Amino acid sequence: MFDQLTVIGVGLIGGSVARAARHFGLCQRIIGYGRSADIQNLEKAKELGVIDDYSLSLEHAVKNADCVLIATPVASLLDIFAALKPYWSQQTIYTDVGSTKGSVVKAAEQVFGTVPTNFVPAHPIAGAEQSGVEAALYDLFLNRRLIITPLENTQPSAVTQVKSLWEGCGSLVSFMDVQHHDAVLAATSHLPHLLAFALVNMLGHKDEQSEIFKYAAGGFRDFTRIASSDPAMWRDICSANKSEIIPLLQQTKAQLDALQQLLEQDDSQQILNLFAYANTARQRFLTQFEGNMSKSITFQVLPGGKLQGEARVPGDKSMSHRSIMLGSLADGVTHVKGFLEAEDALATLQAFRDMGVEIEGPVDGCLTIHGVGKHGLKAPKNDLYLGNSGTSMRLLSGLLAGQPFNSVLTGDKSLSGRPMKRVTGPLTSMGAEIKTTELGTAPLHITGKAGHLTGINYIMPMASAQVKSCLLLAGMYAEGNTSVTEPAPTRDHTERMLSGFSYPVTVEGSKVTINANGQLTASDIDVPSDISSAAFFLVGASIAPGSDLLLKHVGINPTRTGVIDILRLMGANIEVLNEREVGGEPVADLHVVYSPLKGIDIPEHLVPLAIDEFPVLFVAAACAEGQTRLSGAEELRVKESDRIQVMADGLQILGVDAQPTADGMVIQGGSIGGGVVISHGDHRIAMSFSIAGLRATAPITVLDCANVNTSFPEFKDLVKRLGLDLTCEEA
Ligand code: S3P
Repeated sequence: MFDQLTVIGVGLIGGSVARAARHFGLCQRIIGYGRSADIQNLEKAKELGVIDDYSLSLEHAVKNADCVLIATPVASLLDIFAALKPYWSQQTIYTDVGSTKGSVVKAAEQVFGTVPTNFVPAHPIAGAEQSGVEAALYDLFLNRRLIITPLENTQPSAVTQVKSLWEGCGSLVSFMDVQHHDAVLAATSHLPHLLAFALVNMLGHKDEQSEIFKYAAGGFRDFTRIASSDPAMWRDICSANKSEIIPLLQQTKAQLDALQQLLEQDDSQQILNLFAYANTARQRFLTQFEGNMSKSITFQVLPGGKLQGEARVPGDKSMSHRSIMLGSLADGVTHVKGFLEAEDALATLQAFRDMGVEIEGPVDGCLTIHGVGKHGLKAPKNDLYLGNSGTSMRLLSGLLAGQPFNSVLTGDKSLSGRPMKRVTGPLTSMGAEIKTTELGTAPLHITGKAGHLTGINYIMPMASAQVKSCLLLAGMYAEGNTSVTEPAPTRDHTERMLSGFSYPVTVEGSKVTINANGQLTASDIDVPSDISSAAFFLVGASIAPGSDLLLKHVGINPTRTGVIDILRLMGANIEVLNEREVGGEPVADLHVVYSPLKGIDIPEHLVPLAIDEFPVLFVAAACAEGQTRLSGAEELRVKESDRIQVMADGLQILGVDAQPTADGMVIQGGSIGGGVVISHGDHRIAMSFSIAGLRATAPITVLDCANVNTSFPEFKDLVKRLGLDLTCEEA
């Protein structure tokens, strides 16, 4: 990229850029610059091969540079710019690494009048507690964020070159304006450092300090790690960005005061609510922001075992989403029990919090939703990030189309590849304004059209509960009737829950109709266990000799029980016990005992009723005697992964004769071998191949299993307790 890179300030960050530039072949020659007091450090940098040479003369150091990287503390930038001014060249690109951008821009303005157009302010979000060139690493920036804060007059070509430099070092580059950068960093970095310094300072001055440090365990260590950072550097950063930091300190004080008061009043419920909120917020943060960088999870499954005992699998995902949506839009307070505390449902929960709804919990699956009424949502301040959850995105698109504010819906890589035209198409006919990518995928930019939607009569081309529910939610804000006719029955939780909240909705055969003349009245919800999660155990116990399992309190809504019907047709021994109705939904305990399975042609009418269970049903088919054929299931190709292709590939790796077709699969049952399969980030694929281990003849390794947390975080512990030899490895 560059012939010569000059690094001003060869410490941890400057040295690491130099190491990365060399390692990734981004320049021919690296020259360091420092003051005469830094000579030992520069010698060391040369000796370590971090730089090729150095100069104590700035003129000399920058003379032939294509790129000059300023990596000195933020407080020194005024002096550095002043020293550089006589040698500033239009042929060179200048950039920096300062943690505060407002102060850097101000320093440049002071020296040059206006910021030179070939100076590109940038900030790598990476560092270490150690400082100095000895600590420099070529991979310090790998998969780390790098923020460029160009100004209006910054040359686009200079921005492009700086972007390429950092991408070349492995960084994930994003752009922000200067003020936004400083506000974000004040909250995410500067305030936490300040709090860590303050806490250690306070405890360190106490008389019993030796006691405190002697017995300080994980919590203290984790919380205060960053107080080991360079004090002078942090003094400079905090004073450079004090205008953003001081308001945050005030808010922190208010939060601590509130906590103190709750303790004094023994208000344990509010304390629990506060902690639970923080706990979910952090969990969400880890998925959203560290998703790509987080540890990869591998399931190692040893062959054999049987499933025995009793279990209650977590709450139904579809109903959990809807409980948040309708509870938020209701008048009054809704209490939810059995809520699924997994990433997908939590994404919906967070989206409604972002739209101003107060939701307490979840604590042990219990939530209290303070409904804001049908017209009470507030504009979210940021994009609504919905992770992996198709249900959140598709249902929200309908609801948000008729709001008096604009919104943007984003998701992870898998969700960003899934078709959204199926909802934006009919919504547009209702008068909605939603922009997708050219491919018809997220992000969705929704212009709120409150008062301008008109009902339609929509005949759905595919059997999709998400599309149906999306249009019903939009219909609550449209003039006239909105009707949706489905080609085959799909899950009807939205219709049932609307009725449970006293919202008028009529169902005539395959046609559901709604209009805007209704209000939602808060109603408590008891979410049963998810039959889609129970399915892994229904199949596991059916294929593993000696199994005998009782699954308690499972939702058996007739639009969801296709998996029981299909397994029974294959010869499974499943009893439905203790049938009852809970909150408008049928529930039962399912008793499943091992029974040899045989291959079948799966009746097409059962496909939408078992749509999420096919990955594990393919495993059942692989263990059955004879051939199993599935057709009419092209929808499987657009789930969290292409479930036809991904399952066929994995089964073939395990030695199963599985032939994918356009709309299904043909599987020759027999035996399952061992091998390494990939989930392609799809939770149900990961769990299905783990279950296959019960009948495998050799160990199965399932790669890429972090996504199990989207629907069933307890899976690995539960399946182990019931009898599968599964270990979870993080790398
Ligand atoms: C769901 C509907 C189904 C299903 C998904 C959940 C819902 O999707 O696969 O897991 O909660 O409405 P489609 O509507 O795309 O079939």
